[in-house]
Amino acid sequence: PLVTSEQMILNAQKGGYAVGAFNVENMEMVMAVIAAAEELNAPVMMQTTPSTVKYAGLDMYYANALAAAKNCKVPVAIHLDHGSSFELAMQALRVGYTSIMIDGSHHVFEENIEMTKRVVDACAPSGIPVEAELGKVGGKEDDLDGGSGGYTDPLEAKEFVERTKISALAVAIGTAHGVYSGTPKLDLERLSEIRKLVSIPLVLHGASGLTDEAVRESILRGICKVNFATELRIAYTEGVKKVLTENPNTIDPKKYGAAGMESVKKLVMGRIKVCGCDQKA
Ligand code: 13P
Ligand code: ZN
Ligand code: NA
Repeated sequence: PLVTSEQMILNAQKGGYAVGAFNVENMEMVMAVIAAAEELNAPVMMQTTPSTVKYAGLDMYYANALAAAKNCKVPVAIHLDHGSSFELAMQALRVGYTSIMIDGSHHVFEENIEMTKRVVDACAPSGIPVEAELGKVGGKEDDLDGGSGGYTDPLEAKEFVERTKISALAVAIGTAHGVYSGTPKLDLERLSEIRKLVSIPLVLHGASGLTDEAVRESILRGICKVNFATELRIAYTEGVKKVLTENPNTIDPKKYGAAGMESVKKLVMGRIKVCGCDQKA
């Protein structure tokens, strides 16, 4: 069924694992994520960024998620990832999204608080949990350039959470969106410091390209939701490419769509296991 992300992430926090949150861009990716979660009996989050939403509309992704979630036994949440404005967050809320991120991390502290608080207040009557970000995750999140630097300050994190009353906090500890050119150096000490001062679930962005070890260590230190996007794009495209390369005359979109789906499903199953959320539905 379709549920909010609140309980599944709190369960993860209690159980010492993390919920995998996977960015989806088309129907095949939605079906692949659900199939992986079902096969591993895992709670799961699917999420769409503003540029994805621009491609097909909130209604389209919501309908896909709802249809996919309807007949499955695992809990599924559909989340707005990196919500870029109060207006977009409200549109997602109205359409039925069950989890919302407002990303004011590129604003100065007080403005980030103000924007985040406004979204939390608007979502609260509907019981929709809000994730926000403090500090900057590097790299490029589709059309949003995160820039570099700006790790989350633990004391600021504490104040931010208290004043905004968010449900989950995305932290900047050295990860970046997209694949990494070198080996990313995560500031795990900082993560532990934040954990000491902040009791709500913490979110790790930019997990594509991280080693299993790095993801597991982050979870041990307080991460309860892990975001994967770029790896799914790569898996989908590789799957499609393989069919079209081997059979250039293919004209049935179902043929290469199925290959892309299978490839994403395998990837997601692996990442679900790394997060430890298999058999936790
Ligand atoms: P990656 O593309 O590095 O997996 O980052 C995903 C993410 O943080 C989505 O919000
Ligand atoms: Zn992100
Ligand atoms: Na990444």
